[in-house]
Amino acid sequence: MAQDTSKEPLLYRLEDIIQKYGGRAVLGIDSLAIASKSIIGLVGHNGSGKSTLLRILAFLEAPAQGKVFFQGKACCTRQDWVRRKVTLLPQEPYLLKRSVEANVAYGLRVRGEDNRPDKAREVLDMVGLCPEDFVRRSWHELSGGEAQRVALAARLILKPQVLLLDEPTTSLDAESTRRIKEASLAARTHWDTTLVVASHDMAWLESICDKILTLEGGRLTIS
Ligand SMILES: Nc1ncnc2c1ncn2[C@@H]1O[C@H](COP(=O)(O)OP(=O)(O)OP(=O)(O)O)[C@@H](O)[C@H]1O
Ligand SMILES: [Mg+2]
Repeated sequence: MAQDTSKEPLLYRLEDIIQKYGGRAVLGIDSLAIASKSIIGLVGHNGSGKSTLLRILAFLEAPAQGKVFFQGKACCTRQDWVRRKVTLLPQEPYLLKRSVEANVAYGLRVRGEDNRPDKAREVLDMVGLCPEDFVRRSWHELSGGEAQRVALAARLILKPQVLLLDEPTTSLDAESTRRIKEASLAARTHWDTTLVVASHDMAWLESICDKILTLEGGRLTIS
């Protein structure tokens, strides 16, 4: 699955990033480059900084120090144009207390983009949830694995340039895991989406990634 992305232009460049919480440094990245259309794995023990790095890449959180360049421009969390290109499936996704369809279409609606019902159906299909069965269900009528797949569908509907996945298959059964993996890779295939995936599933990462980054105590080592 891994493709030669060495000739692709740089999408991200991080320089001298430090993140601190309550005065304590939890992430320190001197330099990191991510090529367009690549698939990057992110591994590390609990507390090593994976989610923190993903939130910075999503422009949801600003680092205490350092610069994040996206397509060559120094970007920050207040810039809408860049936030629209990137979407994060958080470690513990949150669903609105509404229908599946409303959840899936939410991102398009807040962006003021066309949210025809067939778009929600298309992405529910991608994650293996039968649209007829699921569009009108309420958020509380879902299993954990189905809720995770709805949350992913809500990101896929945006056809993101970058999809950041924070432990997307943790505690899911085999079927949900397979669907999440297939749908993430389909984004890469259909839309050239760049993927950054934090996961403890080394076998999966090794089979799909161009590069796997290891975080240890907030510091990167490249394997
Ligand atoms: N909002 C916060 N306030 C204070 N400390 C935080 C906050 N978020 C994370 N931390 C701390 O930052 C460090 C990195 O956390 P992070 O969640 O990025 O790790 P992780 O690699 O994603 O861990 P896990 O595998 O458990 O998800 C940890 O020491 C954590 O306790
Ligand atoms: Mg985490």
